Amino acid sequence: MDLITTPPHLREQCRAWRKQGLSIALVPTMGFLHAGHMSLMDHARLRADRLVVSVFVNPTQFGPNEDLDRYPRDLPHDLALAEEHGADAVFAPEPGAMYHPDHATWVDVPEMGKRLCGASRPIHFRGVCTVVLKLLNLVQPDVAVFGEKDWQQLAILRRMARDLDLDAELVGRPIFREPDGLAMSSRNVYLTPEERAKAPAIHEGLELVQERLRAGERDAEALGLMFRSHLADKLPGARVDYASFAHPESLAPVARVTAQTLLAVAVFVGKVRLIDNKLLEA
Ligand code: PAJ
Repeated sequence: MDLITTPPHLREQCRAWRKQGLSIALVPTMGFLHAGHMSLMDHARLRADRLVVSVFVNPTQFGPNEDLDRYPRDLPHDLALAEEHGADAVFAPEPGAMYHPDHATWVDVPEMGKRLCGASRPIHFRGVCTVVLKLLNLVQPDVAVFGEKDWQQLAILRRMARDLDLDAELVGRPIFREPDGLAMSSRNVYLTPEERAKAPAIHEGLELVQERLRAGERDAEALGLMFRSHLADKLPGARVDYASFAHPESLAPVARVTAQTLLAVAVFVGKVRLIDNKLLEA
């Protein structure tokens, strides 16, 4: 497995593979890899001849008061896991290698990017789109694999790919969870043991809403209140940033749940902001 740290070297390696007629899969990550990331790699490995994993804590998707500096990092461990899961190359550039000091070009999907997480993270998806487009341009993969844990991210990237005629197929994979239901996240390490023990309440809340929906409640506001009161009961002290019902592709708000609908939530547990979601069946 190669460790690549500069964009020109990445481009050169991928170009050489393509010349040999080899297909390429890309899994973009911010590192501190866990089983959720592994599930993407394992799938990607099956989809192409060569697998590139990027490990880059992308500064442009963090707001000024967010956790860029505190974001967990462990490159040696990431390299070992990537190799174990069949990566042919890990691309781990320094921010200075990815962005020119006078970087001035952004890719934005403003309408979708201001919904859900975008309400409290206004520049986040612009940073995500820009870095993912840069990675796709460098690698020119046949497939790029993303997790449905970040449903909004995937929906926005799909819109970007469609609107800009990108060649790569964007593949979404299911949320990988801890045995108790908590969605795996690099940020889970920041939960105190007590917070960690109660955090599965988020996933339970999503399941509870699905049950109430099945029992006949269609009103999104009423269903949202059920989620909130479940959390108030089971995860006291947590603050719900949002619990929103949205069209799974356009992310437009849904008031009555009469078709397949995304329930997306973000919850502050102490200082840690956790996201989760569920595709509700009406
Ligand atoms: P990161 O949070 O490291 O996630 C990398 C990929 O892993 C994303 O596609 C994310 O949805 C997926 N993932 C994370 N946790 C998962 C889980 N529990 N189950 C399944 N998939 C999971 O998302 C990013 O990085 C960045 O925004 C990035 C796309 C790399 C751009 O910087």
